[in-house]
Amino acid sequence: MKELSTSYRKHIFVCTNDRLEGSCCNKVNGYGIFHALKEYVLSNGLANAVWVTRTGCLGFCNDIGTTVVLYPEKKWFTKVTKDDLPKIIEEIHKRMVL
Ligand code: FES
Repeated sequence: MKELSTSYRKHIFVCTNDRLEGSCCNKVNGYGIFHALKEYVLSNGLANAVWVTRTGCLGFCNDIGTTVVLYPEKKWFTKVTKDDLPKIIEEIHKRMVL
């Protein structure tokens, strides 16, 4: 094992899980939310401070929107749609010292 120390202040997990039957974030624009957050981070000079990662199922599957988790705040957002991105972006900037 090798322990790493990074420059990342925040880590965003976006569920993009896909399943053939039943609810899943892939069917409710999980990839769209992932790409939108990734694009925001890159285009706003935050790439060294905020890491955006796709994940498998986070256990809050629904037919409305994807699941997003923000650390170190330990905030979980479910049923996230593009309309919710400003709120998540606001959360990204809270208490962040670059
Ligand atoms: S498929 Fe995304 S929370 Fe379950």
